[in-house]
Amino acid sequence: MSRVVVTGGAGRLGRSVVETLAAAGHEVVSIDRGEIVGSPARQLSIDLLDAAAAAAAFSEIRPDAVVHLAAVAVPGALPDPEIFDINTRLVWNVLEASLGSGAGALLVASSPTVIGYGSPSGWAPAYLPLDEDHPVAPWNGYSASKVAVEEIVKMAVRKHGDRLRLGAFRPCFVIAPEEWEGAPTQQGHTLAERIADPSLSAVALFNYLDARDAGEFVAAWLERAAPADSDVPNGTVFFVGAADALADAPTAGLLAEHVPEAAAAAPSLEGDAPVFSSALAERLLGWRAQRSWRTELRTLVPSTAVPADQEA
Ligand SMILES: NC(=O)c1ccc[n+]([C@@H]2O[C@H](COP(=O)([O-])OP(=O)(O)OC[C@H]3O[C@@H](n4cnc5c(N)ncnc54)[C@H](O)[C@@H]3O)[C@@H](O)[C@H]2O)c1
Repeated sequence: MSRVVVTGGAGRLGRSVVETLAAAGHEVVSIDRGEIVGSPARQLSIDLLDAAAAAAAFSEIRPDAVVHLAAVAVPGALPDPEIFDINTRLVWNVLEASLGSGAGALLVASSPTVIGYGSPSGWAPAYLPLDEDHPVAPWNGYSASKVAVEEIVKMAVRKHGDRLRLGAFRPCFVIAPEEWEGAPTQQGHTLAERIADPSLSAVALFNYLDARDAGEFVAAWLERAAPADSDVPNGTVFFVGAADALADAPTAGLLAEHVPEAAAAAPSLEGDAPVFSSALAERLLGWRAQRSWRTELRTLVPSTAVPADQEA
């Protein structure tokens, strides 16, 4: 058991991370501007852009480890320069506060968007499935901020060495538990609508991740990568995604139809294989997503649902 600060603990991803870590026996403190009712964590309401407030809170808590999720999490939610500024400042503040409080480990959230799919000037993968060695090509303030976040992690490894165990992860499109029941996803559509219309998920290359699986990834990182004597290379970046694609047809065919620029590399994907590989997380941390849309989706896709006035 360890004391873990989760920044952004009231968010879509943070709620599941807090619950999973608390259930695993960690003492969890959520730091967010917002609070959630019924959280198993102690909650502090702080604006982490205030470096002094962040440092004071971390010094009072004295965490063993920090999981940094707080960010502007949606591309386009604010003008590009603001998103870049906010997301990078948050990481600097949390890094400094972690070091100042004596924390031994810091895991920060990046994003698969660093890869560059959806670029208005065109994008084609060098190969598929995408892994952590694939070149990054950010094209908006959000994805550029996440490349910078990963670079700040690598910088901190060079600067502080083993004083702090560091890592970054790129969670695929996060599905919170209530979204399997029909609540709208981060982009507004329900999951049933996404399965019925592959063009909705094509823009993110059919990637997704159950939020509970994300929580279990964080727990695995804390167990395997955070200890001072871990053999996981310090600063490792991980893709974290479901073991299949968010689509009801073979992935290669869907890419050829909806993302033609990926068609040449698509045949290397077998069946419903995901475009993003989480093999590194499995190899180094023993983590693999346990949940699939095929087992979790509770609502019928609209095209197969029987209209109420036609029900028997
Ligand atoms: N949801 C996804 O699909 C997804 C995919 C890839 C990466 N990510 C990354 O994962 C992390 C969490 O994403 P999410 O979907 O849970 O986002 P979210 O918007 O639901 O949660 C982010 C939380 O951070 C908090 N926050 C933002 N600025 C803050 C500040 N200045 N001080 C204190 N708290 C602040 C917000 O109040 C919010 O509760 C983000 O870094 C995001 O970029 C998310």
